[in-house]
Amino acid sequence: MTDEKPLNVLTICGSLRKGSLNAAVTRALPGLAPAGMTMIAAPPFDRFPLYNADVQREDGFPEPVTALAEVVRAADAVIIVSPEYNYSIPGALKNALDWVSRMPDQPFKGKPVALQSAAPGPLGGSRAQYHMRQVMIFLEALVFGRPEVFVSFAQQRVNEAGELHDEATRKVIAAQLEGFAAYIRRHGGKG
Ligand code: FNR
Repeated sequence: MTDEKPLNVLTICGSLRKGSLNAAVTRALPGLAPAGMTMIAAPPFDRFPLYNADVQREDGFPEPVTALAEVVRAADAVIIVSPEYNYSIPGALKNALDWVSRMPDQPFKGKPVALQSAAPGPLGGSRAQYHMRQVMIFLEALVFGRPEVFVSFAQQRVNEAGELHDEATRKVIAAQLEGFAAYIRRHGGKG
């Protein structure tokens, strides 16, 4: 039991794929979170139009963009779990971040953010994760440092039911969430 304030953490999965390895990691997070930390999944961003400042100026922000921005604002913190596409952030996720970043009272500013990535290869999406870190620094998020979570050879760590079964990976993630909870409590956040 803890008498500390509960922490509401928003999870954003960067893959749109039904059988996504990153979605499997995202689904495992609530079960690995320390006491007092709860997770909610972000609303979908797959219908966001491609970012275009003319569209923003003429039509305003699309409703799904506003919905994502609101849940980012309301959360105590955010965790982004993403694949790597061509050594970088998948276009759909980057497009979503670009839209949200143009909202007034920019939602990521001052928000604690932790990053994770999963890939079938040996580097676990690390190149994309470091690009996300760079984007989050521009957005003035409070980006969590260590432990980092890179789920390499991810198809060996997720079973056919889409569950992250690998004990070593679960331990690293639990350690990150423990450290992230302390970080959120230390740094506050606007949620
Ligand atoms: C990939 N993949 C990939 N993997 C990687 O480790 N580094 C990379 O640069 C890329 N590039 C890449 C580009 C594109 C367009 C696709 C579709 C895929 C492979 C990728 O990691 C793999 O498909 C993962 O399973 C995708 O993550 P989800 O959807 O399973 O979460």
